[in-house]
Amino acid sequence: MARKGPSYACTVCGNVTARWAGRCEQCGNWNTIEELPPEAPVAAGKRSTTPKAGAGALLVPLAGETEDAPRIETGIAELDRVAGGGLVRGSALLVGGEPGIGKSTLVLQAAARLALNGHKVVYVSGEEAVAQVRLRADRLGVLDAPLDLAPETHVETVLSGLGRQGAPDLIIVDSIQTLWTDAIESPPGTVGQVRAAAQTMIRYAKQTGAAVVLVGHVTKDGQIAGPKLVEHMVDGVLYFEGDPSHQFRILRAVKNRFGPTDEIGVFEMTGGGLSEVANPSLLFLGDRDAATPGSAVFAGMEGSRPLLVEIQALVAPSSLASPRRAVLGWDANRLSMVLAVLDAHCGLKLSSHDVFLNIAGGLRIQEPAADLAVAAALISSLARTPLAADRVFFGEISLSGSVRAVSQTPARLKEAQKLGFSSATLPDSSVDDASRKLGLTLSGVQTLPDLTAKISAPDQISGDDGARFQAQALVSAERGVP
Ligand code: TYD
Ligand code: MG
Repeated sequence: MARKGPSYACTVCGNVTARWAGRCEQCGNWNTIEELPPEAPVAAGKRSTTPKAGAGALLVPLAGETEDAPRIETGIAELDRVAGGGLVRGSALLVGGEPGIGKSTLVLQAAARLALNGHKVVYVSGEEAVAQVRLRADRLGVLDAPLDLAPETHVETVLSGLGRQGAPDLIIVDSIQTLWTDAIESPPGTVGQVRAAAQTMIRYAKQTGAAVVLVGHVTKDGQIAGPKLVEHMVDGVLYFEGDPSHQFRILRAVKNRFGPTDEIGVFEMTGGGLSEVANPSLLFLGDRDAATPGSAVFAGMEGSRPLLVEIQALVAPSSLASPRRAVLGWDANRLSMVLAVLDAHCGLKLSSHDVFLNIAGGLRIQEPAADLAVAAALISSLARTPLAADRVFFGEISLSGSVRAVSQTPARLKEAQKLGFSSATLPDSSVDDASRKLGLTLSGVQTLPDLTAKISAPDQISGDDGARFQAQALVSAERGVP
């Protein structure tokens, strides 16, 4: 017998519980749990546990014809690639991000581009009045795009309006938190409304073959229900992220039923909207000060695309009982691991040092391949000696101190070469004929102590005090002197 009584959901992470609590046990946020609206009661006569004859689901064999998902390319290459080659007809895509990051700008640019290419596009603006959308379109230089606006928040009204005009190719809902449906009594922005409105729009997409893009604000305090609540319902989830103080914006796929999830799209916010960044490495290395200790260039991969980024480390003696460990753009646990390995296998005692690590440009990287570059940056900062300016690093470090091979070595090396780097420090097992052919000077390392020994060689650091490098690092660590 199903349990009666209300159930509750967290507005930030969507976790459903049977009891109300002050703090969500899944995401740890306070005051974010709210009661879910009751589900529509099932009429007494209809309740049945045994299926009626003839009412069973239609079973079909797995083997059969397959076809590629029908796509609409927006013409914004960075967006298309992250979505897996364009928006898929009959599917729903969620574009999440913090308020002010540029979601509306991105979707309006894509919508205008498609409308100009002859597609029928409807922009449902629940957040902004028509005048505001027009102002933005003017700023983006797309005021003449034949785009239909619907300043409306009531789902049924939107859909009946669309019904009269025929289904569009693309519907944009900005934002899902402003929509409300008659089916539920709670106000817009609550868990029940956001879910129900999203469900209705998704059903509409499946029925009509229109592509639906739902914009969702990421909320931190749980005042309104966040996009996490609808992640499981939609076909694709893209998050638009970036540091508001930087111009770069990164579009990252976290779920995609029709494509890869490790792709990123890089944009730059300009006075006239978002512009695509075709060569992000150039952008992320643009302001690099290669002569500073603690800076190492990581040859990374984001999905199918190589990306060079600068890793900055600052290691300084601490006066605190438990020294600070601050990380921006990388996993704090991985930093702890690299520090532990440096301590255990290389004799670099950092327990009395503050350690700060930053990925330049506001980028967030997830690859374990960054371990080696992080270690190099830490050692360089500790020894107060800059690394060679023309060298890139990549490789995964294991707890035993060995350096493990990572995927796509040739792509990483090619990107480094393209941007003018002439040498690379990489896992020894990745040094083969194919990678040697690329013309970079390769320095393979098997273990982390190997790295400390190697980067003290004169060709790997800038300046003439190469031989003292490792010793200096060890001495600074022991004495607590930078
Ligand atoms: P917006 O797309 O409104 O963000 P969101 O929908 O995610 O809340 O963009 C907000 C910011 O972008 C705003 O601070 C202004 C800035 N912006 C530009 O710098 N250039 C532009 O051309 C536009 C349209 C916005
Ligand atoms: Mg907006």
